[in-house]
Amino acid sequence: MSRNHIYTLKTSAGIRTVTPLLEPVSSFHSAPGFFNIAHRGASYYAPENTFPAFHRAIEMKADMIELDVTLSRDKIPVVIHDSKLKRTTDGRGLVQNYFERELRDLDAGQWFSPEFRGTVLPRLEDVLKWASKKILLNIEIKKEAVTKKPEGGVVQLVYELIKECDMTGQVIISSFSRIAVKRSWEFTPDIPTAYLMSPYALGTVREYRLMKKLNATGLNMKPHQMRKRLMSLADKNKSPVWVYTVDDEKEMAEVIKKGATGIFTNRPDVLGRVASDIFKNHQE
Ligand code: G3P
Ligand code: MG
Repeated sequence: MSRNHIYTLKTSAGIRTVTPLLEPVSSFHSAPGFFNIAHRGASYYAPENTFPAFHRAIEMKADMIELDVTLSRDKIPVVIHDSKLKRTTDGRGLVQNYFERELRDLDAGQWFSPEFRGTVLPRLEDVLKWASKKILLNIEIKKEAVTKKPEGGVVQLVYELIKECDMTGQVIISSFSRIAVKRSWEFTPDIPTAYLMSPYALGTVREYRLMKKLNATGLNMKPHQMRKRLMSLADKNKSPVWVYTVDDEKEMAEVIKKGATGIFTNRPDVLGRVASDIFKNHQE
């Protein structure tokens, strides 16, 4: 399969062609041109944004893992969703106030279940090294890590790590921060980017134009934002549309039929089943 190969999928909205941008890493793939993305890892089954959740994503045959990245006090990219430590670790306060070596001493698994006691809050570098030649990554840069100055900022630091780990062909960078998306393209024209639409946006073509203005490759959105005109514009231009976060089987099927390039789910095992059922009947 070449990266420029275009897949044709039949959906309830008609024929849809997709350029996948990234080739799947493993021999398994849910369906040509469709991506099963483990949201924060297989986070329904293990603590989000940790190695146990990432390992389960592989076991469940996800094509890609989504993870959230912010900076420690000493400017090391670390993997955690919230700006505060309280919900997912035994620490307190803001992530950005702690040195990375202090964050490593926290427990990031016990909150989920005693079975995961002792789970470490990962550094992005460790995840990149682990994922190499194993699985694709969608690195979401958290808004609070983005600074006005581009030099030495989160986007540059993430890019340097991706290069060092030789992962440019295996990652997508995404963000709700328009600055981060635009800056990603400036630092990393060789890496696809996705603009995360605000959850309050209406899903109009304005969002599509904004995505283009930011030089992003695709759009991430919620299921209700997959409005007809926006989807046809994305279709016409073969722009990927990634949809988050869908755990319900019926909704997964609806979103696939509306033409999603990929779905973020906490339950990649369930999505795998739904996707193979649909694509079995619809592939060209
Ligand atoms: O990237 C998709 C999704 O992860 C965005 O929302 O809040 O789960 O990071 P959130
Ligand atoms: Mg995220």
